[in-house]
Amino acid sequence: MKPYPPDHRLRTAVVGYGAAYNIGRQHLQEMEAAGMVPVAVADTDPARLEAARADFPDIQTYRDLTELLARSEVELVTIITPHNTHAPLAMTCLEAGRHVVTEKPFTITTDQCDRLIKAAASRDLLLSTYHNRHWDGCILEATEHIKAGRIGQVVRIDCRMGRYGRPGQTWRGSKSISGGILYDWGAHFLDYAFQIITAPMVEVAGVGWEGHWGPQTTWKEDANEDEAFVLVRFEGGQWLTLRVTCLETPPAGTFWVTVVGTEGTYRFDLRDYELTTLKGEETVTVRGRNRPNQSHCYYQNIADHLLAGQPLVITPQWARRPIHVLDLAGRSRLANRSLAVEHP
Ligand SMILES: NC(=O)c1ccc[n+]([C@@H]2O[C@H](COP(=O)([O-])OP(=O)(O)OC[C@H]3O[C@@H](n4cnc5c(N)ncnc54)[C@H](O)[C@@H]3O)[C@@H](O)[C@H]2O)c1
Repeated sequence: MKPYPPDHRLRTAVVGYGAAYNIGRQHLQEMEAAGMVPVAVADTDPARLEAARADFPDIQTYRDLTELLARSEVELVTIITPHNTHAPLAMTCLEAGRHVVTEKPFTITTDQCDRLIKAAASRDLLLSTYHNRHWDGCILEATEHIKAGRIGQVVRIDCRMGRYGRPGQTWRGSKSISGGILYDWGAHFLDYAFQIITAPMVEVAGVGWEGHWGPQTTWKEDANEDEAFVLVRFEGGQWLTLRVTCLETPPAGTFWVTVVGTEGTYRFDLRDYELTTLKGEETVTVRGRNRPNQSHCYYQNIADHLLAGQPLVITPQWARRPIHVLDLAGRSRLANRSLAVEHP
């Protein structure tokens, strides 16, 4: 990809300016901090366009992406919409010759990732996914301890999230829109895990349970699983597990990651970590607070890549790995057996 002149200011847009977390505002603020110029917002909901204008008075607003692409000279478009719309909206932007960032999860299926990767490569366009949590304080802290050898050789990672209770009634609870219970935080957990275990993946097994909460939600037979579990085996014998549930409030809290090594265990949540090492017969536990998140590094890397030819951190191939695992887990569950990995 030919870099822009270093003083070029990339003109950007977002599609989707949702109210749930006001994450669209975060994107535009981080783009600005990276020297980009937010130019336009598209959202099908006029109230959200009004919210965007209140946050960014000079912003152009559109009800429809096609109109934005036709009328606005933006160079980079970020897709911040429900999961099942990422692939078609990203393809529309690539076909219009724009660089594309999708929110996580990149897409729902591996096949959708492959089509987008091919479309971007054939047009020499940037394609990436907003894995802002790649720079979370908890994973920056964890990788420093683990790479320093404090738990010896990594054997296993367990990622857990859950609480007992009926899921919300928004699109996040619909299987066909969200992709399933694993696709929201699962994408973040897998991005964490792949920073710790870098070996190629070998096979994926998935299981799940449904039918308890579904009938009580808006989505009924289209509801997400009540809980789902994935096991990934890596070359070299390491393995990781991921479980997201609405059937249990685990004693250790709603979210945690455990990394087991040959000489210790490292456990973290978003705020704290706990490092337990074995010294002969003695067990020593050290607890600490994670460092602050560095989410802004995401768009800084996009700018450095497009303007100065720096390597892209979240390549589409990196973003495809979590999707491949989640896609294979769903297919494995239906097939009642583990499945070989096609993109190790
Ligand atoms: N990286 C993070 O930390 C993080 C945090 C929150 C959300 N997200 C992700 O952001 C995405 C959106 O989540 P959200 O919480 O903002 O959801 P949301 O429901 O609050 O907002 C989605 C917005 O998209 C708009 N929309 C839907 N289809 C559209 C279309 N075809 N064209 C234009 N606008 C459309 C809706 O009107 C809505 O305003 C998801 O992928 C979610 O996983 C990521």
